[in-house]
This record gives sequence, structure tokens and C-alpha cells, in this order.
Amino acid sequence: MADLRTTLLGLTLRNPIMPAAGPPGRDGAALLACAAGGAGALVAKTISTRAAHPPTPNMAEIQHGMVNTELWSEMPPERWLESEYALARSSGLPLIVSLGYTPDEIAELAPRVAPYADAVELSTHYVGTDPEPMTGAIRAAKAALKVPVLVKLSPHGEDMAGAARAAADAGADGVVAINSFGPVLSIDIETATPRLGGANGYGWISGPALKPLAVRCVRDICRAVDLPVVGVGGISNGKDAVEMIMAGASAVGVCTAAILRGPQMFGRIARELSDWLDTHGYASVNDIRGAALTRAWPSGLLPAPQIRDNCNGCALCVTACVYGAIHVVDGRVALDGEQCTRCGLCVTRCKLDAISWDVNTDTLYGSSP
Ligand SMILES: Cc1cc2nc3c(=O)[nH]c(=O)nc-3n(C[C@H](O)[C@H](O)[C@H](O)COP(=O)(O)O)c2cc1C
Repeated sequence: MADLRTTLLGLTLRNPIMPAAGPPGRDGAALLACAAGGAGALVAKTISTRAAHPPTPNMAEIQHGMVNTELWSEMPPERWLESEYALARSSGLPLIVSLGYTPDEIAELAPRVAPYADAVELSTHYVGTDPEPMTGAIRAAKAALKVPVLVKLSPHGEDMAGAARAAADAGADGVVAINSFGPVLSIDIETATPRLGGANGYGWISGPALKPLAVRCVRDICRAVDLPVVGVGGISNGKDAVEMIMAGASAVGVCTAAILRGPQMFGRIARELSDWLDTHGYASVNDIRGAALTRAWPSGLLPAPQIRDNCNGCALCVTACVYGAIHVVDGRVALDGEQCTRCGLCVTRCKLDAISWDVNTDTLYGSSP
């Protein structure tokens, strides 16, 4: 069985799958359930200097994910300090404590959580795109703590690399990316009402719809700074975790999949990750980390995709070929190389892997494009 042990900021994790800050870590008992469910480390719900009072309703399942307008923990910090962190620590797993938001709030909270935290994660969710509040929060945390300080970035704009560089310059020891994306709006058409409460019904999207954005952000960050990154966003199975780790993530956070399908998802994703590594001949999860950091397709026109013998003529690709380059001939599909623009959609549309690029992966660019 492939070795999933992972080192993150000097902490040894039995596997790299952990909750992302949110309802899976809403209190000590929930965090113990994450540990029992197979997580490699624990991340508690973000706390601030006072309890949050989110609007209701504040969570809704939508196609390909969720929208939410939760805030930080609805429990006051005193409750976490009196009982919840100690309960979580009784699991024996490393505990990452999440704090929000301003430098003043972090300066107040950091020394109080120090006895319980193996690392601290700072949420930048409500601090906008100006790096100064984030860097101020990092400096406040570093001044108060001996344990590693991670900063969790929200997916604002394109310049995740710039945000990560600012975080590194301010002294962050690691990055968590990304938080949910928004604001977004989902409307229940039966009642013509936003699915979420609050003045305008806005929320933040999470789950599978977020994954390509998260993978892009993680790879941008890993290319820009030499810091460990916890990749978060849309991870719900082992292959998702492989993708995030190939983008450069040291570990992987899961929130929506654990909300919708329970805390046993951590162990399930870890097992699927291990199975994928075994099937592909990797002895350790470390062997795939950053494998896609510098990969890119060569420029210029590719050879046309090839149809393989296992094609069953289902014609999914025929319908989706907007260039009319694929036709069914004698129960199998045939591709017209003259009409084909090499867009690649058919390769990803085929459920049998019966259409593939005839490209040796060793010929792909091996350095940053
Ligand atoms: C209901 C809900 C509550 C969340 N609360 C927090 C939070 O308190 N602190 C935080 O940093 N992120 C919070 N998040 C964001 C998640 O940690 C995560 O970054 C995001 O949902 C993307 O991951 P996912 O697709 O696995 O859910 C929350 C997400 C959801 C869905």
C-alpha cells in the first residue's frame, strides 16, 4: 500500500486529507468525528473575538456544490478555549486553529489559543483584496505564536501569486487555498426567493464547481512561493486529491463533501488516493507532489486524436463535435482529420477512454510556459 504519511510544517500526518475550516470542525465533538472518519489532521471552525450571528437560512445544496452565508463560529471564543480545543486534541491528531480576521482581533486571540494549537490558520475572507490587513494579521500572529502560521487566501482576482508573495514576505509559514468564492446568488424558482438569508441573499459557492479555480490558484501559489500549501476547493474523491497534490499541494482540505456526505469522507478520500497511487505504481504520495507544476502542451497544431478499438459507437462525441468532424461508420466512430480543429472536447467527453491524443507525455513542455 502506498505510503500516505505527509510532513506539513514539521507536523507528521498519517495522511494528507483534513477538514477545511467550517461545519465539519464546528466543535470538539465534530472534530473527534473527523478524526474517527480518517482525517490526517484537524482544522477547527474559524473563531473571532465574538460569536457570529449568521442569517438564516445559510446553507443550500445546488447543482455541483453548495452556497452558504455562514460566518465564523457561532460559539464565543471562551467556549472553544474552555472545552472544545481540548476535546479535539484528545484525538491525538495535530490541531490547526483557525482565527479571523483583523490584525487587532488576531493579536487578541493568538496568545489565548497558543496552548491548544499545533498550527494556526488565518482567514482573510472578510478583509478584501488589499494585502495590508492580511499581512498585518500574519505579523500579529507571528509576534504572539511559536507554532507555524498559515494564511488562508480567498479567490479574489487573478493575482493569487502576488497575495502569496505578500504573505511570505510578512512571515507566513504556509498557505491554505482557497476559501469559497463569491458573492453568488441562487434563487428557488418555486418561491422566486433567494435560497439564502441576509439582505440580498448573496452567498459563497463551494464544492465541485470550485475545483478548477482552486487547482489553478494552488498551482499559481506553488509556482510563486516556496511555502507548503494546503489545497482546498471541490475535493470529494481520491482523484481530486491526486489533482490537487499534482498542482503542488502538500495536503488537501475538504469541507463541502464532508458536510454533505459525512466525516467518513476523509478516510474514504485517503483510501482512494492510496488506491490510485498503488494502481499507478507510486510508493508514496510524495512521489506525485507538484508533478503538474511545470507541465504544458506544446504550442502549434497537434496531431488529430485517435479512435481506439474499445469504441462502442455510443456517439456522445459525435453530438458534442461542434465542428462535424466525427461520424458513426459501421457502429464505430470515425474522425475526419481535415475537419477536426484539435479542440480536444471528444477526448474528455468519451466515457471509455476510446479517444485519445497520440502524444507521448514526455514531449510535453517540462518547464513553465
Ligand atoms: C458552510 C461553510 C462554512 C464555512 N466556514 C468557514 C470558516 O469558518 N472559515 C474558513 O476559513 N472557511 C470556511 N469555509 C470555506 C471552506 O473551508 C472551504 O475553503 C471552501 O468551502 C472550499 O472547499 P470545499 O469545496 O471542500 O467546501 C466554509 C465553507 C462552507 C461550505
